[in-house]
Amino acid sequence: MVIGVVRCEEENLVALVPQVASRYIKDEFQVIVESGAGLDSGYSDESYESVGAIVTSRSKVLSKANVVLTGVAISASDLEQLGQDTLLVGKFNGRVKSNQLNLLKSSRAKVVSLDLLPRTTIAQSMDVLSSLASLSGYKAVISAAEEFAGYFPMLTTSAGTIPPARVLVLGAGVAGLQAIATAKRLGAIVEAFDVRTAVKEEVQSLGANFIEVEGSEEDQNAGGYAVEQSEAYVAKQKQLIHDTAVKADIVITTANIPGRVAPKLIEKQTVLDMKNGSVIVDMAAASGGNCDGSVEGEILDIDGVKIIGDSKLYNKMGKQASLLYSSNIYNFLKYILRDGLEELPFESDIVSQTLLKHEPSTVIA
Ligand code: NAI
Repeated sequence: MVIGVVRCEEENLVALVPQVASRYIKDEFQVIVESGAGLDSGYSDESYESVGAIVTSRSKVLSKANVVLTGVAISASDLEQLGQDTLLVGKFNGRVKSNQLNLLKSSRAKVVSLDLLPRTTIAQSMDVLSSLASLSGYKAVISAAEEFAGYFPMLTTSAGTIPPARVLVLGAGVAGLQAIATAKRLGAIVEAFDVRTAVKEEVQSLGANFIEVEGSEEDQNAGGYAVEQSEAYVAKQKQLIHDTAVKADIVITTANIPGRVAPKLIEKQTVLDMKNGSVIVDMAAASGGNCDGSVEGEILDIDGVKIIGDSKLYNKMGKQASLLYSSNIYNFLKYILRDGLEELPFESDIVSQTLLKHEPSTVIA
């Protein structure tokens, strides 16, 4: 069987790094790589050749490989070159309605989108969302520290004592917990909020203070994800977040509801009331934003408060992100190809939920 990898369009990521290519080769797969596929994330053509992969053109990879690996985007002309039994693996935002999703669903190839993996124990080693969210959570703190004109830790200097920075993290999923841990390691005072009260203990175990709003809606059938909240709850939540944010130096927002527009947690007035020199990192900017006025890919200055809009901070750690992404895909393929490409285990939710011919349950209109 031939595993092929093409350059990821739109992201600084490659779906197969040389270390993982050598694992496929050891498992007796042939590996072919589009020339330049890994360059943006720090992997040269020679590094693939040195582990036994063949470097060739994009069209050869698309037409010859039985399994084609990529990232978030693929063009219609690429799709046309895939054979009927080819398995295309990527993370195509399978919950968000788009022209690309329609194209992928009508492709004659079998397409799997790894962002639809169930959050189960068995799928943990394949969980690309967790790998990338964790990198992004870390980078959010580092990016905020770069923009913040102050120290994170408390420091006693000859000129006097500098108090520690105050960091507020909104949303304590994978990215939020990593942001909390990173900010704590840098010496900040950290507070965090999430609608899922189940995360309270995790937040506290990282040394942060969990700020609580009573009466949140939780749904045991939501696969561990958050659900939309009542108006009364949202009003209480907004007040508490406002009161905490205006005392913070850094606010990092990571709140998402899969397939829906992100909840608005920081209002314009809160930004205006925040201290001059504060920094907000909005990691939900691409899905509508948690902060009023944030723009994906831009750093704005609103009345002395910087707002970084970046939902893909892992792109700034392309080498590491590619290694994790590749390893997750390897674990996924090892599981689903155990009886060959013709005998995919459709009874497993790992296959049935990621194959794009199955409609995901929530879709952004
Ligand atoms: P996500 O990226 O979908 O959302 C980030 C966080 O925002 C979540 O913690 C969510 O509760 C929170 N949020 C949503 N609306 C909010 C609001 N209005 N105010 C404040 N916070 C809000 O979540 P992520 O990081 O992908 O994790 C989702 C779930 O999956 C979590 O329960 C996590 O523990 C679980 N998980 C399970 C894994 C496994 O067992 N294999 C692996 C990774 C995650």
